[in-house]
Amino acid sequence: MLVAPSILSADFGILAKEVVEVCAAGADLVHVDVMDGHFVPNMTIGPVVVKAVAQVATKPLDIHLMVEDNTFFVDLFAPLKPRFISFHYESERHHHRLAQKIRDYGIKPSIVLNPATPVACLEDIIKYVDMVLLMSVNPGFGGQKFIPIYDKIRQTKELIQKRNPSCLIEVDGGVNDHNIHRLKETGVDVVVAGSYIFGHKEYKMAIKSLKV
Ligand code: DX5
Ligand code: ZN
Repeated sequence: MLVAPSILSADFGILAKEVVEVCAAGADLVHVDVMDGHFVPNMTIGPVVVKAVAQVATKPLDIHLMVEDNTFFVDLFAPLKPRFISFHYESERHHHRLAQKIRDYGIKPSIVLNPATPVACLEDIIKYVDMVLLMSVNPGFGGQKFIPIYDKIRQTKELIQKRNPSCLIEVDGGVNDHNIHRLKETGVDVVVAGSYIFGHKEYKMAIKSLKV
């Protein structure tokens, strides 16, 4: 299992230190939640802060856009060379065009589904993305309760096996040491965890407990 700590739950007063610490503690990716106050009822960080994170991170960035204007934000963040940029199915009209644009920047495109968006929406876009991010909470905030989306993970896995076997499945929201084993069994490749990791005294122990 790859583990991507979400810095949304980090202490923003000492953000650089937090990023350095989770990277040293065994994170595989640094998950960066970008919210615009329109697509979701919350705002987080913009290019100035994400650039500062990129400068101190020793692991690749995994940028999760929760915004209305995806194209604008892709252009903004592409120079930081993240490993992944994930955009929401629900906020974009031109999925194929946007995935291609991200790929043209040399970045891996990933598509996100909210908990109530059906897997059937992925049928035509799946072969153009490198990862599917399944939300296990409604996007906008850290620290929410996990929604059991196991059926959805299974359906996504089936579609991936048929249409794009190298595509990864990432799950984001309410991930902890209780649900990690079932997520692994169901076929998840990458988990995002915010409050679980940053709420732990020992980041190393918390990350280790998710690497199943
Ligand atoms: C929610 C964000 C998540 C969030 C996860 O909109 O996409 O990445 O930070 O936080 P936890 O792990 O606390 O649910
Ligand atoms: Zn996220």
